[in-house]
Amino acid sequence: MATFQTLPGFREFYPEDLVRRNHIFRLWRQSANTFGFAEYDAPVLEPLELYTAKSGPEIEGQLFSFTDKGGRQVALRPEMTPTVCRLVGAKASALKRPIKWFSIGEFYRYERMQKGRGRCFHQFNADIFGEPGPEAEIELIALLIQCFSSFGLTEQDFHVRLSDRNLWFYFLAALGLDEARIRGVLGAVDRYEKYGDEAFKPYAEQFGPLEESHKARILAFLKINSLEAIERVLAEVESGANGSAAAGSMRARLADWRKLLGAIEAMGLTKFVTVDFGVVRGLAYYTGFVFEAFDRKGELRALAGGGRYDDLVEKLGGPALPAVGFAIGDMTFALLLEQRGLTPKFVAGPEVYCVIGGEAERLAAFGDIHALRAAGFRVDYPMKDLAFGKQFKVAAESGAKVALIYGSDELARGVVKLRDLTARSEVEVPRNEVAAAVRDFLTGA
Ligand code: HAM
Repeated sequence: MATFQTLPGFREFYPEDLVRRNHIFRLWRQSANTFGFAEYDAPVLEPLELYTAKSGPEIEGQLFSFTDKGGRQVALRPEMTPTVCRLVGAKASALKRPIKWFSIGEFYRYERMQKGRGRCFHQFNADIFGEPGPEAEIELIALLIQCFSSFGLTEQDFHVRLSDRNLWFYFLAALGLDEARIRGVLGAVDRYEKYGDEAFKPYAEQFGPLEESHKARILAFLKINSLEAIERVLAEVESGANGSAAAGSMRARLADWRKLLGAIEAMGLTKFVTVDFGVVRGLAYYTGFVFEAFDRKGELRALAGGGRYDDLVEKLGGPALPAVGFAIGDMTFALLLEQRGLTPKFVAGPEVYCVIGGEAERLAAFGDIHALRAAGFRVDYPMKDLAFGKQFKVAAESGAKVALIYGSDELARGVVKLRDLTARSEVEVPRNEVAAAVRDFLTGA
């Protein structure tokens, strides 16, 4: 008989898969808590127009959207950022500052499926609202790194590539480009790593080919990999024809860079951060610092991405409110943990297995089973009567360390047998001391 399959790109989580996913979520949540972020949640189905025109053409083209029975245009959320802007925007004046929020949820994008990319995936989102200066970026980049380090990942496993759309804007303005052309060039820079020169094709189609001298300077800017390199470019801009206004803005921006990199150094995190102007981010709403996390070997797709988006809360109907944030995706992250052997082996089975003689003994066992579970021990037993031999086999296979044996002889004498399943030794324990004996055995007391 044909069985139903999941839709392409959708995932099912069998218990052994969910144990791994829960482990990831648990450590992300723990990191967010230690940084003082508060957790929130929101609907997965949203009005379509929350995403159209604000997130940019890439996400718009990937929306799972439809008309609901009430005739509303709706979409499954492809990202959290517009939603969290709405939540914060609606209560901005009442919220205690700084507003540091996080969430873990499922997202949907109709993407071409490939390694580390699906049509449904989870993200950990962390965002700070109301902080115009680099203090917000400092806190978020530190949290991003902690979300990775808490699994045992090191600077040899991942890094955060840090860039700045403001400096890109000032620099391209100094080349004499208007805003539409600047956005066109940034689109090309975003695709350059993947497609090389081909990335400039859409720009050429829209605006005509880029002047060769401009292209050379853009490609040189894209290779910026340090504060010193930024300073060198600034000196060039200062001596250029259109340079004076842009150079002033660039010089002021350098103070933010120094503050950000200085704080990262003071936290001992410099080894995780790479200045890399090849990153500009594909989403349309970013306005300042942008960053993406990648595996060091560069084998996997992006692990996380984020940046500043100072205009979005207002564009979505809220007050003017600066914002910065990032999201980590669970798919590439799980692949990286797997590759590095950092997915722990989980013991999902019971600690205690009860071997039960028959129906009468079962009732006696139930009292202990429930008391042990209420005391926090993982306890299991056979749902129906089985031969002793069979029950011992199940007990051994379950991973339990200890078996409690409820035989009619033992119960008649007011005792239960406690069997050490590793050492294969047994002791008799009075009925009213079973919980204490199990606790002592499992804690090694
Ligand atoms: P994003 O770069 O689109 O940013 O996604 C962030 C991360 O989500 C990616 O680095 C990737 O790990 C994961 N991801 C995205 N699409 C897929 C997919 N189809 N399959 C599997 N994983 C995927 C955002 O979503 C921004 N809203 C992040 C943000 C938060 N910016 C500010 N605050």
